[in-house]
Amino acid sequence: MVKDSSSPASLWFPYAQMRGMEAPHEVVRAEGTRLHLRDGRVLVDAIASWWSVIHGYNHPELNAALRSQLEEFAHVMLGGLVHAPAQRLADRLVALAPPGLGHVFFADSGSVGMEVAMKMAVQFWKNRGVSGKHAFLSLRHAYHGDTTGVMSLGDPVDGMHRLFSGYLARQHFVPPPEGMGAGRGAVRRSVDEALALLATALANYGPSIAAMACEPLMQAAGGFNFYPPAYLAEARRLCDRHEILLVCDEVATGFGRTGTLFACEQAGITPDIMVLGKGLSAGYLGLSATLATDRVFDAFLGEAHDKAFMHGPTFMGNALACSVGLASIDLFVREGYLTKIGRIEDILRQELLGLRSPKIRETRVLGACGVVEVHDRRALEGISEFAADRGVWLRPFDRVVYTMPAYVIDEASLRRICRTMRAWFERG
Ligand SMILES: Cc1ncc(COP(=O)(O)O)c(C=O)c1O
Repeated sequence: MVKDSSSPASLWFPYAQMRGMEAPHEVVRAEGTRLHLRDGRVLVDAIASWWSVIHGYNHPELNAALRSQLEEFAHVMLGGLVHAPAQRLADRLVALAPPGLGHVFFADSGSVGMEVAMKMAVQFWKNRGVSGKHAFLSLRHAYHGDTTGVMSLGDPVDGMHRLFSGYLARQHFVPPPEGMGAGRGAVRRSVDEALALLATALANYGPSIAAMACEPLMQAAGGFNFYPPAYLAEARRLCDRHEILLVCDEVATGFGRTGTLFACEQAGITPDIMVLGKGLSAGYLGLSATLATDRVFDAFLGEAHDKAFMHGPTFMGNALACSVGLASIDLFVREGYLTKIGRIEDILRQELLGLRSPKIRETRVLGACGVVEVHDRRALEGISEFAADRGVWLRPFDRVVYTMPAYVIDEASLRRICRTMRAWFERG
């Protein structure tokens, strides 16, 4: 369904009402932070392809890594075979991750990486002879992916998967701190209040819970609620006290998005299981990594085959994806990306935190993520086209318009994204 084409809807688009859907822009080239459209327009990309393209598009060094691996082989299975890109990436991730996460299980998307985490948590307790721990505790506003297991961790009331409620496993939910973003909104639930609710839920349901899952510090696709590290630090302590594993979903936050390499570093904690995706392969190919501590890994060791972890996607540890992941990490470290991210955060704060309009409920910034939340989602209808006409690619969802750009974005382009948002609200 390309613009200027009369082709039928053979291509079914995500999260889209296909009846009457506006034909999407056709991208013919993408370079750095720019999307080149068929109609000749060039847009600054504020979204980085759902936050994954952290080095920008068509990066020569990443392209070279892929080409070089392609000369050897694209993919071989990890069942009974191994290859250097997968082994080297696992070693690299273990070296970078919070201390104690010594083991890496690869899969091919963030959703599946989180499915792996859930299965690992359930089987961990089973292998240790603890029965009845099958449920999960999750946070309101959570989003952990689109597959069946992880949909059950998404917000059951406001989340995009609420219509599947009868089909999904029933989990326990607690509200996180809210309105605590570094913006100008009012505190709606403090850290102490949220922790009291968490402690009560764990005391009530702890024996049936395998793990608590959370997006550390920044809940992304569930509405961009930010919360302070103190909540996560205390959640870690409470999970230990109640014998519950802690799963940190760093699919969105990992690789610098909140200002540190991994968000859980800011709370000074090591989760039992941590999931990476998106920026892991710099938006080039599907790849996720589920990291586990020695304690989790050791529970799968033994004589019995059914103690082994029962998962193995065909494309796990794909050699092309791992090669681009290694090149991406090299770039990230060598080019001092955390400094770049700090600079992006400063600019986002300057540009967005002062935005005023009766339509705006709150503005907030964390790391390389800037968010404007409106009272009524209708206030954002038309903003994508408005921005495209001004050379910017924005895609709002629900009551939020945001930017999570590639970290290579230059200052002028970033200010242009923010000023396009401002222009939208200033036009009355
Ligand atoms: C926190 C989080 N977890 C999991 C996912 C799912 O990742 P994927 O789309 O690669 O399956 C996303 C995607 O937006 C996410 O933001």
